[in-house]
Amino acid sequence: MLDSLDRPIILTASAKINLALHVTGRRNDGYHTLESLVVFADFGDRISVKRAAKDNFSMSGRFGDGLPSNATNLALRARDALRAAFPDRVTPVSIHLEKHLPVASGIGGGSSDAAAVLNALARLWALDVDVDRLAAIGLPLGADIPMCLHAQPLVARGVGDEIERIAAFPHLPLVLANCGASISTPQVFANLNKRDNPPLPALTAMQSVDDVCAYLRATHNHLFEATRALTPEIDHTVTVLTQTSPRLVRMSGSGGTCFAIYDSDDEAQAAAASVRRQHPGWFVVATHSAMEGN
Ligand code: C5P
Repeated sequence: MLDSLDRPIILTASAKINLALHVTGRRNDGYHTLESLVVFADFGDRISVKRAAKDNFSMSGRFGDGLPSNATNLALRARDALRAAFPDRVTPVSIHLEKHLPVASGIGGGSSDAAAVLNALARLWALDVDVDRLAAIGLPLGADIPMCLHAQPLVARGVGDEIERIAAFPHLPLVLANCGASISTPQVFANLNKRDNPPLPALTAMQSVDDVCAYLRATHNHLFEATRALTPEIDHTVTVLTQTSPRLVRMSGSGGTCFAIYDSDDEAQAAAASVRRQHPGWFVVATHSAMEGN
């Protein structure tokens, strides 16, 4: 019998933004070692889970059509991985994914969905798990899943799985823009000309947008040139954002989403409105960095 008092658990799967991404080497298994300064936006997909008579999965939202709804979907792979780890504690669940983030776009949509499913189901099933255990369960599904489980400002090292949380970080007004270019992350990594770059500079205390931008100016996204070579449209996204006079423009992850940083939320809103007017078909959102996820 279903408990009629069962309510869905609804979590935001926040967009992940690589403010800086240094590629520092390559492991024997082919994965690259990275150092990345990451924040999460106050914007993302929404995951809703609740008990059900039998398993089911549905999607909605602007980008809901771009994904398979079968067991290859990262949300369902996360459910199945958690079930495999706790086979005696699980009941059927209904999962709904509201997809607001573009697919395969460098802002961790799939990884963030998987992380939100892990968090939501751990609560629904009352599992005794901490974030490290969930990260170990999620990592084989995607290198960004551990950082998405933390969903707060952090530095990620290793293949993205070694997390150093940043306790204090300023409110960062942002615009995210994506022209719709489709990008394959494995192809971008395969296309790198240089893999042994220096690590990130030592973290400084960051209390203002100025502090963050000063730090970021000494850093890079080492995937940018490889993405550009495969997808020259990225240059246009950078140019359009640059024309809104932000403090800094850069690509996140392997692209194609680029972000711009502003001094205020009002400036970010105005810039987003201007980019949207010029390119009504693009994904454009004004947001800001969030201190805590979910
Ligand atoms: O783990 P995820 O699905 O995000 O990675 C997609 C692909 O990107 C991997 O199969 C790998 O080719 C590449 N990758 C990498 N080094 C990383 C993360 C991803 O080479 N640290």
